[in-house]
Amino acid sequence: MNAVEIEEAVSTLAAAPFDAALFPYAFLEAFGNKETTLRRLRSGDSNQSDLPGGILQRNNLHLRVCPEGEVTATLTALRQSPATTRQKAKFILATDGLAFEAENLADGETLVCAYPDFHEHFGFFLPLAGITTVKQIRENAFDIKATGRLNRLYIELLKDNPEWSTAARREDLNHFMARLIFCFFAEDTAIFHGERLFTATIEQMSARDSSDTHQVLSEIFRAMNTKLAERETAKIKTWANGFPYVNGGLFSGSVDVPRFSKIARSYLLHVGNLDWTKINPDIFGSMIQAVADDAERGALGMHYTSVPNILKVLNPLFLDPLRARLAEAGDGKTPGSGRKLQNLRSRLARIRIFDPACGSGNFLVIAYKELRALEAEINRRLSETDQPSALPLTNFRGIELRNFSAEIARLALVIAEYQCDVHYRGQKLALLEFLPLEATNWITCGNALRIDWLSVCPPTGKTVKLRADDLFETPLDQAEIDFKNEGGETYICGNPPYSGKGKKEDQHLSDMERIFEGRTEKFGYVDYVGCWFVLAADYIKVTGAIAALVATNSVCQGRQLPQLWPQVLGDNINILFAHLSFRWANSAARNAGVTCVIIGIAPRSKLAPKTIYEDDFSRSVSNINAYLVEGQDMFVESVPSPLSRALSRMETGSVPNDGGNLILSWAEVGSLVTTYPISRDFIHPFLGSDDYLNGHCRSCLVITDDVLTQACEIPNIVQRLEQVAALRRESKKKETRDQLAKSPHRFQHRGAIPSAHAIIIPSVSSERREWFPTGLLPAGTVVSNLAFLIADAPLWNMALIASRVHLVWIGTVCGKLETRYRYSNTLGWNTFPVPPLTEQNKTDLTRCAEDILLAREAHFPATIADLYDPDEMPANLRAAHERNDETLERIYLGRRFKNDTERLETLFSLYTQMTSKGTTASAKPAPRRKTKTPDA
Ligand SMILES: C[S@@+](CC[C@H](N)C(=O)[O-])C[C@H]1O[C@@H](n2cnc3c(N)ncnc32)[C@H](O)[C@@H]1O
Repeated sequence: MNAVEIEEAVSTLAAAPFDAALFPYAFLEAFGNKETTLRRLRSGDSNQSDLPGGILQRNNLHLRVCPEGEVTATLTALRQSPATTRQKAKFILATDGLAFEAENLADGETLVCAYPDFHEHFGFFLPLAGITTVKQIRENAFDIKATGRLNRLYIELLKDNPEWSTAARREDLNHFMARLIFCFFAEDTAIFHGERLFTATIEQMSARDSSDTHQVLSEIFRAMNTKLAERETAKIKTWANGFPYVNGGLFSGSVDVPRFSKIARSYLLHVGNLDWTKINPDIFGSMIQAVADDAERGALGMHYTSVPNILKVLNPLFLDPLRARLAEAGDGKTPGSGRKLQNLRSRLARIRIFDPACGSGNFLVIAYKELRALEAEINRRLSETDQPSALPLTNFRGIELRNFSAEIARLALVIAEYQCDVHYRGQKLALLEFLPLEATNWITCGNALRIDWLSVCPPTGKTVKLRADDLFETPLDQAEIDFKNEGGETYICGNPPYSGKGKKEDQHLSDMERIFEGRTEKFGYVDYVGCWFVLAADYIKVTGAIAALVATNSVCQGRQLPQLWPQVLGDNINILFAHLSFRWANSAARNAGVTCVIIGIAPRSKLAPKTIYEDDFSRSVSNINAYLVEGQDMFVESVPSPLSRALSRMETGSVPNDGGNLILSWAEVGSLVTTYPISRDFIHPFLGSDDYLNGHCRSCLVITDDVLTQACEIPNIVQRLEQVAALRRESKKKETRDQLAKSPHRFQHRGAIPSAHAIIIPSVSSERREWFPTGLLPAGTVVSNLAFLIADAPLWNMALIASRVHLVWIGTVCGKLETRYRYSNTLGWNTFPVPPLTEQNKTDLTRCAEDILLAREAHFPATIADLYDPDEMPANLRAAHERNDETLERIYLGRRFKNDTERLETLFSLYTQMTSKGTTASAKPAPRRKTKTPDA
């Protein structure tokens, strides 16, 4: 169940007559418990309570319905009950049907309310349904409620008006919903005169059978689109005359309204009866946008970007510097302070914020609210609290692909403006200036990768026509919308969509081809979000703006990095600040896997200090490279052999391309060798990553040309070779059909077979492991292509691979497969910077590698996967790794590194030295390229 569904179930329960016997089960059901679970509780099988009449669901809830007046005492008894602790209850709850008390035992938060009101606090209990919410959702239960109600109405309207569900009419339905939301808000916030003017008018003027609801709404909308002086001529019905003139694009154009069934009408009235003063535009927008998206509707109420995350973008981008200026400007009383404050206020009035993937406008709304807060503080210090705001809403611009989200973005800004006016200037003044709404449109609905950003957000002093189709029915060739207050700064912000290699849809691919054309032919690894950085860089070159975007952290790792960043950074542009990887903690588990970074880019000429943010810390640095590490700009690319010449050659494992016919299980080996002892000569151990990590044992046939005749004396082998040949003949690849099929005894690619030993390196390793689990294999082992190997090399190579320093390099340079480390010999090993090693260093490292192997041996038959589980890792193995790290890090630095940041910075610095000496590869600085301005 999602949060909206839970809210609905809880509200229904709270509205029903209280039934002491049923309540505990109904409550648990509302939070998503299945009938079978409830049955077991009812029968007592799984009820762990030690109180008479109590119900205790292990790891969840201990609740008891008590006699009237005993709620507080019952809650105390629940808290003190040994079963509550023993069974790890998260919540305790007591009610007598009149009062309702509960406690979250994890954080001690309590809830006390009248029974009929408990549904208002459903967010308090969401952890019962496994939904760990961010605080804002809990505190804004209204937004979930309104989303749920509007969702029902939307679905009902689609049912009643199938023609409105077609692509051609969807926009009309979305526009209609935006109008409704505005009216609900307006009637509860005194924008409309009279109590519940909108809902009450529909209730009174439309027939109960709903046959004319659409006509009544249409007339109300017509009134809101007609100036008061023109109403008589327009023959507006007298009952609609109480509505003000709103227009603002929102009520211009068609007043067509979908038809309402009786159910839809009652949903409409139901939504109208909510208290819309509680709407929070930055949260509501994110939630409601899923209503119009058939694919997203299942996750209703879960799409929510937390305000702290948005502030991670906006604070360093422009809010922190502005706050610093405010602090410097003083209190308005000291000499010069007044002038400084006035200057700062006029600077604020000229700031433009542009989000080129704005969704429902949450970044713009937060930016607006924060700037209003700064302005209000200036006004307070200047004793000018009555001043109207100088911040034009139209300076907060966006582009959004989805029509409904774009509608909501604009509405959310309108609501935010009104709420700020009420908050800072009082309702009377707020109302005076609110209507009519701004007629021009400033949120563009369209594809940001096809629209000229300069036309949506024209640079200072330039007038550019708006080409794209925009919101609220403005024609394509409308006159340009100039910014109010010329001459200001522009800040680009947002959280554009991510779509990695292999996940892009055709539309994404064609957008990318268009963006990268003429810049580079290699962009296959670049995530879709990379396009926004490229266009932001183009925009910055023309305007001098600064941009900060959220992105998946993969844009700063692995193979996509050298493809993307040379197109963004260069002579003109550098990284101004970066937030290192953090979980994009949205409301639900849905987004739990997304690890993001925030990257701020600016013209090089901007002399502000560069800052790296990590968790709650920040540090100033001289330069931030695309790996988000302090150091020179560089893009590490694959090289065919190790830059550090002492390192041994690492190769990929063998590729059988055999349909499994050259591979033998333990049992197959046994039977073959028993029947044909000579076959032993052709059988070798065969290991991939999974075999190695989990202790599986397979073998393969290695038949060299010189022993083929001998091998073919064994019928089982002949049969296997025939099957390989048949399979290869069916291949789509010509080379496989024409050549490989003719030599079925050969692997497609056969890596080295060690004569002494091989160091194996799995191609992928869990991000939970603290060290890369490399190991040693005996002579004759064939390593599969799901791993890498170094054959017959000195053991100190293994010490390097097993080190923390190497893991950090691999994580950064090779990138990740989902969240797991992905190894690459050419990109990770060949580029690995190692200081010159003395013979003594090599001896010490060899000893370290031996110690790691011995430590593992002591735990035979534990698998490598068992031994490297960070929760279970044996102390002696951990100690051996620590000694290895200590030994190696002393070679790098003369001491242990303080942290991974220092490891990386040292590695990059060494990499720069190694590559600039003109050895095998070179650190590529960001190349100059033709400047390409976005389409005119
Ligand atoms: C990750 S969401 C972020 C939206 C919002 N800031 C938030 O936090 O909810 C990305 C937004 O970009 C929009 N989008 C996707 N592709 C787009 C494109 N090519 N042009 C403009 N917007 C696009 C999506 O519809 C979505 O609203």
